[in-house]
Formats: sequence, structure tokens, C-alpha cells
Amino acid sequence: MALLRSKSALLWFLIVVAAHIAETGGRPRRQVLLTEGDSTVSLRSRQPPAGPEPGDPADAFKVPTLDGEFSFQPDALRGPLVIHAFTNNSGFLECLWSSESSLKSLVEELPNSTQVLFLSLDDSVVNDVLWMREQVQRVAAHSKKEVLSRLHFSPVPVFALGNWIPRVLYYWSCMGHNCGLSQAAFISEEWKMPVIIKRLDARYDWLMARWGSKSYTVIDAGDGCETSPSVAGAVAWVSEGNCSFFTKVQSMAKSNASGVLVYALPGNPLQDMNCVGDECFSLLSIPAAMVHQDPAVTQTLRFGKLVNVSFQNTPSPNFFIGIDKQGLLAEMGWFLYPTFSFVNWQAQWFDFFADLQTKLQNPAKVVSVFDKVQMQGDKGAVATVDLSIGALSADLLDFEKLELDASLSCPGKRDSSCAQWDHTVQLFVCCDHTSPYCNMELGRWITAFRRGIGRWLTDVSPLIPLLDSNKCTFTMKTVPWAMPWIVSLNLRFSGTNQTGNFGERLRPFKVMSLYDGGTFDKNYNKRYQPIKFTVPASTKKVELYAVITGHGSDENGCGEFCVTSHHFVINAAHNNTHVFDSAGTALGCAMRVKEGAVPNEHGTWLYGRGGWCDGLQVNPWRVDVTKQLNMNRSESNTVVYFGLFNGRDPNPAQQPGYIIMTSSLVFYK
Ligand SMILES: *[C@@H]1O[C@H](CO)[C@@H](O)[C@H](O)[C@H]1NC(C)=O
Ligand SMILES: *[C@@H]1O[C@H](CO)[C@@H](O)[C@H](O)[C@H]1NC(C)=O
Ligand SMILES: *[C@@H]1O[C@H](CO)[C@@H](O)[C@H](O)[C@H]1NC(C)=O
Ligand SMILES: *[C@@H]1O[C@H](CO)[C@@H](O)[C@H](O)[C@H]1NC(C)=O
Ligand SMILES: *[C@@H]1O[C@H](CO)[C@@H](O)[C@H](O)[C@H]1NC(C)=O
Ligand SMILES: *[C@@H]1O[C@H](CO)[C@@H](O)[C@H](O)[C@H]1NC(C)=O
Ligand SMILES: *[C@@H]1O[C@H](CO)[C@@H](O)[C@H](O)[C@H]1NC(C)=O
Ligand SMILES: *[C@@H]1O[C@H](CO)[C@@H](O)[C@H](O)[C@H]1NC(C)=O
Repeated sequence: MALLRSKSALLWFLIVVAAHIAETGGRPRRQVLLTEGDSTVSLRSRQPPAGPEPGDPADAFKVPTLDGEFSFQPDALRGPLVIHAFTNNSGFLECLWSSESSLKSLVEELPNSTQVLFLSLDDSVVNDVLWMREQVQRVAAHSKKEVLSRLHFSPVPVFALGNWIPRVLYYWSCMGHNCGLSQAAFISEEWKMPVIIKRLDARYDWLMARWGSKSYTVIDAGDGCETSPSVAGAVAWVSEGNCSFFTKVQSMAKSNASGVLVYALPGNPLQDMNCVGDECFSLLSIPAAMVHQDPAVTQTLRFGKLVNVSFQNTPSPNFFIGIDKQGLLAEMGWFLYPTFSFVNWQAQWFDFFADLQTKLQNPAKVVSVFDKVQMQGDKGAVATVDLSIGALSADLLDFEKLELDASLSCPGKRDSSCAQWDHTVQLFVCCDHTSPYCNMELGRWITAFRRGIGRWLTDVSPLIPLLDSNKCTFTMKTVPWAMPWIVSLNLRFSGTNQTGNFGERLRPFKVMSLYDGGTFDKNYNKRYQPIKFTVPASTKKVELYAVITGHGSDENGCGEFCVTSHHFVINAAHNNTHVFDSAGTALGCAMRVKEGAVPNEHGTWLYGRGGWCDGLQVNPWRVDVTKQLNMNRSESNTVVYFGLFNGRDPNPAQQPGYIIMTSSLVFYK
């Protein structure tokens, strides 16, 4: 399954890469951005109405619920709160609330810190919330029921709430996957008015073709399971059932249809149309969506009259607001497909972030390097910092721990102001221009697709020796063509022992650079020669320290989406191996939200990648290799690196990817 999903993801890249090159003039990098209406941007460019923004504190409120009352008190926060306003005018939300797997994820995986308040935007609010509650109760009957006490259903429509919630929902209006109303608009000479119904497009990473803005002729094609020459050039109108969604779209594509509308059988909900298993290996290049069967459309087609359809998106209020554990308003990001897992991921991130806030309270000497500085262009963000001031009383080498506290936010308060693409960000430091350490990499991160909430703490203690003078210049940068990010960076030094007796604790005193990466092609490993070295006197411990990420997309998805392994062989006997085994998996990076990976980004952040995730720091790989070495300083050791794809030398036929690597041996005494 994992592999299949990545295959279909891969196919998509090939399509978007071309668009990206055209847009940026950059080299073809695998990047995926989902299309997004730009109405938010144009609204924002005019005088925006005053209103709470993400990051502003949420005021107290009370709403009646089916069980009594829900009261939000900022002074007595129990944990994060998610507010969701339902409308059955959205096919996306209808499916979110009908899909068993979606409901199951809410009931089984909502983080136990989090509460959810359910509202409805419509007059039908009482029916809506009774139905919504019934849906979760039905699913919870087979699993844990505890969650039900954290789900609150209000029978008061949003337009009658009388508090700030409607203001935020309307002010944070958006176009995306989980907001805005996707619709199919039918016309016929038989009718006075168009028939406009909700639609749910097929899963974003299965069918990548998008509806055009033109008017299409609609042709009835039965159940769509067999080819049918009559649909050529038209949108095929086919019923649910008798064969898979894939088979319908494939047979209509073979019949040269321009697209497929699958209508639900009476009483059935809209479904998230997707491929299953081997189906996902076949590239289909026409768009498809699911709709309800409309009697006027069916009748008119049955009488052989002409029906046309066009596809539109009507802006809507936002359907989701988050309030984090600190009581601050937060956007919930994009839901790429209809499942409550996206609520869970955002809630996990609220938990992560609250935990991070606690960690930042731990005692440490904090040196501010960047405080909301713009990072853009060739130069990036640059700052020279005097480490002898900033309350660093002890010698730097006396600190046991150095952590990078970095955040990447956006020029505005909304995610819509954020840079669209994911890029590698590197932090370089130079303290002494004559030192071999000058401009070595101290940290690496990958930017999120258009979300400005990322903040991460990275332990880089082994690299303390890089700070070999008091005055250090820090440079943080990404590719010059990336849109700007606003960076903050604090160095956090901790764990010194003021008495001067360090007991058993060892401190790094020397960093020996080993290898860097390069083009991941058939010559990749030819450039690595063994390095001979002796262990310096009084060394007690030696650590291998490497930061490795795979990028680019050859025909196997290397190095971003293929499984690469990285080997440092010491003294021809010890094979230290690091395998990026989650690269290309469907949810490899979604599983790392708990570690701080930014959730619900406006792009394909979910897939596992070669040593990294969008919106996350790159964790250094550290191995204690002391026992593998000859510690006698008059005898030498060797180390050699090689990198493999599926256990073999890479050998791409086209567009080789590349590996970005910093690797060192760190000597402790
Ligand atoms: C919530 O989850 C955490 C970790 O998963 C666990 O330690 C804690 O006991 C749970 N709390 C409740 C109330 O279930
Ligand atoms: C939502 O709309 C669909 C189609 O119009 C309908 O079948 C379904 O009953 C509605 N659900 C609710 C809760 O009103
Ligand atoms: C219906 O669709 C066809 C095919 O795209 C187009 O030629 C025709 O102009 C459309 N008719 C209307 C009334 O939009
Ligand atoms: C499924 O196929 C049968 C037999 O060909 C047909 O009678 C029926 O209408 C089809 N079902 C749908 C939903 O199209
Ligand atoms: C689809 O179009 C191709 C190329 O124009 C043609 O060869 C083929 O016969 C068409 N298929 C059908 C089912 O009409
Ligand atoms: C600092 O060193 C002293 C003397 O060896 C020791 O007793 C003390 O526990 C150390 N403090 C810390 C925080 O490690
Ligand atoms: C190291 O391990 C990898 C994978 O386990 C293997 O392919 C490689 O041949 C090994 N190399 C050496 C020198 O042992
Ligand atoms: C270190 O190596 C040298 C040369 O091989 C040898 O003479 C010496 O005895 C060794 N020292 C120790 C402590 O093993």
C-alpha cells in the first residue's frame, strides 16, 4: 500500500514539476503544491476587516449543547479545543461525516487532551447535530466511549451564536480542500435555472487532472464499467456500483471522455473516490468527482436532451478553528481528503507545541541569533553574535548541551502569506575565519508547504567545538528563489557544572569532517575514498555524527521518495548503517507530527521522505563508535562511506536525485 501511494504521488510530481519550472525558472525539483483559490489573497490586499487573527487569545464563550452547556474559559484551560462548523452544502464535509474510517479516526485517535465543539452553519442545525452525534455514537459503540465526553454538539446555528465564533469563521474564509464549496453547475435548455449541486473531487493524489473552467456536455454512460464511444469529449454521467471507481474512470478515459461524474445511488453518501491496491499503479489523466443523483439531470439525459456541466468553487466561511493549549487562536491548515485524521494531527501538534513551551522553560543560557528576521535570496539571514556577552558566564566548552530553538513563520499572520514550496534550510556558523570549522553546517530544517507554525528544538551538542571563538557569524538560508520566511533562532546552552568538576560527563573537543553528499547516480560511491586517522590523545569517546537528506526524483523517486541506506564502515569491519525506510510511505511524515512535523500543510506533507519531513528539523544521526576504533594514538583507523538504493549502487536512467550530507567524527574527553 505504502509503495503504491508513493507511486501515484510520484506520477503527480512529474506533472507539477513542469509547472514549477515555468513559475520559478528554477531547476526541476520535486515539489508539490495543491491548487488553491486565491480569493483569500485578493481579499487581504484590500482593507481587511478588523478581527481576531491566528495567535490572538480566544475570548471566553458559552454555547448551549445537546447535553447542557459548553463553556470555554481561557483561565481554566483543559487542553486544546477544535471548533468545527458543519454544512451539508459541502460534499467534503458530508463525506467527512459519513466515511466510517473518518469517524473511526475521530473516535479512536483524537488526542485525549483535546475537545471538539461541533456546530452547524445551517437552519437544519438540530437535525444536523443530532445526526452528527449519532454518527460518532454508532462508531464509538464498538470502541472506546471516553471520547464522547469530549465531543460537544450545539443545536444553535452559527448565525445565532451571539459570540465571536461566527466572526472568526467568516473572517478566516478560505478556499482549499476543507473549505469553500465545490460544486457542479448543470444547464439545459429544458430548465429556467441551472441545477447546482455539491461535488467531491476524487482523491487529490490519485487523479491529478483538474476540471477546466469550460462548459462540458454530459453523456449518460450507465454504470461506466465498460467503454462507451458515445462519451468522447464529454463528461460521463455514471452510477455508483458494479465496479470500482478506478474501473469507471479508466473505462471512461479509454472512451476519450473529458471527465467522469459518478452519482451516488439513492440514500448513499458521497464517497472519497480513490484507487485501491494495484489500481494505483495506473496513471489516469481525466478528472472525476462524486455527486448526488439529481432527478432533473437524470430525466433530461434520459429524454435525450442536451445537458452541460461546469465546475465552480463558491467561497465559504472556514469550517474549522483551533484554540491551542495556551488559549490562542490557530488555523487548522488543509485537510487533503475528508477524514478527521487531520483534526487529530493538528491536535497532536498542539500537544507537541505545549510540550515544547514547557521544555523552553528549562534553565538554559539563551543567546538570540535571529529574532523574526527575514530570510530570503542568496544572502539568507545573517547575524554576528558575541557569545561572550549574552550572560554566558562559563566557557562555551563547559556546557554539556547545545540546542537550536528555531522557528519559521510567515510575513503575515495567516498561512496564506507563507511561502508555498518546501525547501531545505541550512544554518552555517563561522567563528574563526582561519578555523577548519568555519562555515560548517550547524543545523538543517525543511520548510513547510505554506504553514507558518513550525518551531523545533534540535540537540546539536556534539557540534559545540564549532563555536571556537566568541564572535560567531550565523547564516541561515534556503534556495534564493524561495519566497521569504521569517526566522527566529535561539542557541540554548545548558548543563554546565559551576564547580568545575564534570564527573563522568564527557565533552566534545574536536570535530573531524568526513564526507558530503552529491548527485545520487551510478558514480555516487566512486567519489568516496577511505579516510585514515588516528584518535587524538586523551580521547575517551568517539561519535559518528551525520545529517543526511535525500532529494530529487529520478524514475525510482530517489532520493526523496526512495529507500536509501547510508553506511559508514569503520576499520573495514564495523558497518554503521542508517536506512530511510519510511521514504515513500503514505503516512511516514504524518506519523511524525508528534515530534513536531507541521501538520495539515498546503501540499503533500504526509508521505515519508528520505531522512526528512516537510516542516521539521532534520535529526542528526549519532552513533557511539568508540569500541570500533583503535584508540592507541600511534595506530591508525579508517572510515569510508557509501550510499545505496535498495541495497545497491544507485543507477538512475534519468534525472538523478541528490544527497545533502554533513558527516563528522566527534572526539570527546
Ligand atoms: C492521555 O494520553 C497520555 C499519553 O498518551 C497518557 O499518559 C495519559 O494518561 C492519558 N490521559 C488520559 C486521561 O487518558
Ligand atoms: C446531506 O445531503 C445529502 C444529499 O443532499 C442527503 O442525502 C443527506 O441526508 C444530508 N444529510 C443531512 C445530515 O442532512
Ligand atoms: C456545452 O458544452 C459544449 C462542449 O464543451 C460547448 O461546445 C457548448 O457551447 C456548451 N453549451 C453551452 C450552452 O454552454
Ligand atoms: C449493474 O449491472 C446490472 C447488470 O448489467 C444492471 O442491471 C444495473 O443497472 C447496474 N447497476 C448500476 C448501479 O448501474
Ligand atoms: C479515443 O481516441 C483515440 C485517438 O483519437 C482513438 O484512436 C480511439 O479509438 C478513441 N477511443 C474510443 C473508445 O472512442
Ligand atoms: C557538579 O560537580 C559536583 C562535584 O563533583 C557534583 O557533586 C555535582 O553533583 C555536580 N552537579 C551537577 C549538576 O552535575
Ligand atoms: C553494510 O551493510 C549493507 C546493508 O546491510 C550492505 O549492503 C553492505 O554490503 C555492508 N557493507 C560492508 C562493507 O559490510
Ligand atoms: C600503542 O601502539 C604502539 C605501536 O603499535 C605500541 O608500541 C604501544 O605499546 C601501544 N600502546 C598501548 C597502550 O597499547
